Amino acid sequence: MNEKELLHNAPIGVFDSGVGGLTVAREIMRQLPNERIVYFGDTARVPYGSKSPETLTRYSRQIVRFLQTQQVKAIVIACNSASACALEVLEEETALPIIDVVRPGAKTALDTTRNGKIGVIATEATISSGIYKRYIEESDRSVSVISKACPLFVPLVEEGLWEDPVTDEIARRYLSELIDSGIDTLILGCTHYPLIRSTVGRIMGEKVCLVNPAYETARALKRLLEEKGLESEKRPELGTELYRFFVSDAAEKFQRFANSILSYGILSAKVINIEDY
Ligand code: DGL
Repeated sequence: MNEKELLHNAPIGVFDSGVGGLTVAREIMRQLPNERIVYFGDTARVPYGSKSPETLTRYSRQIVRFLQTQQVKAIVIACNSASACALEVLEEETALPIIDVVRPGAKTALDTTRNGKIGVIATEATISSGIYKRYIEESDRSVSVISKACPLFVPLVEEGLWEDPVTDEIARRYLSELIDSGIDTLILGCTHYPLIRSTVGRIMGEKVCLVNPAYETARALKRLLEEKGLESEKRPELGTELYRFFVSDAAEKFQRFANSILSYGILSAKVINIEDY
């Protein structure tokens, strides 16, 4: 393979605090079937949503350094909390193109709303960064954003309680003020939340459109690869490790989870010590 082919065939680096980013990886697999992926889930340090911006920046830097050792050609921050706190620093420090999940999600919500009232549910880190509110209100001053941190959603998802009375009860409490506010669009501002989409959708009612930023993120990645002339030209042959998974802890649990989300069965997830990077 010559240098150009090597670059085209290089993988996309995708990362999250754990399994949430698999909802983004799944969409990349669907929309860009020719692309290889190296996924890193920081299962030893999840959740990210309760951490400070400084800690999330440190974690994100380490992960980007690790992904660079895997010769990735672009990076997708498949985590809203890391996108909210570390995107600017990573863009400044890294030569690789980076896609986050927040800007694509904000854009989709702006294209979707009819009454100019958008809700955002996300982790505490994302909500307190004010990033969705800023992006949306800077793009269109007539739109208002109502935000709500939902810290218990990530552990419920990680525990597999996607359809459960406990999740239902907690979701009702979190979402009641969003229902009262009259929003017509709700951003699932954490990559774990698409896994409880049906619960959230049922409680919000069918008049509220749910935005999963993963779809638009994969589209943004496709545009970026095209612009930079970095697309992989053909689908790698089977057995050439199209998708590789790394975690910082509990590989078996991650594998089980991944296999329940992805249509592609993952054979192994390798544990690495992320503190080494
Ligand atoms: N899935 C991540 C996000 O989009 C982080 C969740 C967490 O670890 O708290 O924010």
